[in-house]
Amino acid sequence: MNISLREITADTVRAVCKLVAEPAGYVAPNAISIAEAYFYPEAWFRAIYAGEEPIGFVMLEDSSQRRPAPAQAEVSLWRFMIDAKHKGKGYGRAALRLVIADVRRRHPGLATFATSCVPGPASPRPFYESLGFVCTGEIVDDEEVLVLRLDPPPTP
Ligand SMILES: CC(C)(COP(=O)(O)OP(=O)(O)OC[C@H]1O[C@@H](n2cnc3c(N)ncnc32)[C@H](O)[C@@H]1OP(=O)(O)O)[C@@H](O)C(=O)NCCC(=O)NCCS
Repeated sequence: MNISLREITADTVRAVCKLVAEPAGYVAPNAISIAEAYFYPEAWFRAIYAGEEPIGFVMLEDSSQRRPAPAQAEVSLWRFMIDAKHKGKGYGRAALRLVIADVRRRHPGLATFATSCVPGPASPRPFYESLGFVCTGEIVDDEEVLVLRLDPPPTP
């Protein structure tokens, strides 16, 4: 499966903004995320590609990008989506594995990688759990918090 994470450019930004998450209500539109990234120094984002086609979007909150940077970096998954046309093909899992590997490489000392999701009938919680994330029981901004331990490496 030829999945990659690529920087978004002037040539690709419209295609990434046209990607649609279904059902609605579980993630912000990509155009909103990219606009927010302009104002949040901790935002790190990439388009997800299958071959040469943009099929998804990921945005992290990486506190080490703030100035001054905190002594202890915290990194979490802020936005993650695969276009409705491409759901259920294994792309989401492959892309999130790439994201996790990249976070490990850039932050070797990091103990955990967190995310959160809106509860509901199409909640992606089982998707995250299948990758080793565990629900903490915490609710932040009406979203369930899940954490992946990065040390030792998870088995899935
Ligand atoms: C959640 C999402 C990113 C998953 O991407 P995907 O490419 O469809 O997922 P995959 O095909 O890689 O699926 C991997 C596994 O997770 C399961 N899964 C995927 N989405 C799921 C969901 N919403 N609920 C339950 N299980 C789900 C799949 O059934 C599959 O399980 P299997 O291997 O046992 O068959 C994608 O469906 C999406 O963009 N959803 C809408 C937006 C969203 O919820 N984003 C997350 C915001 S926190």
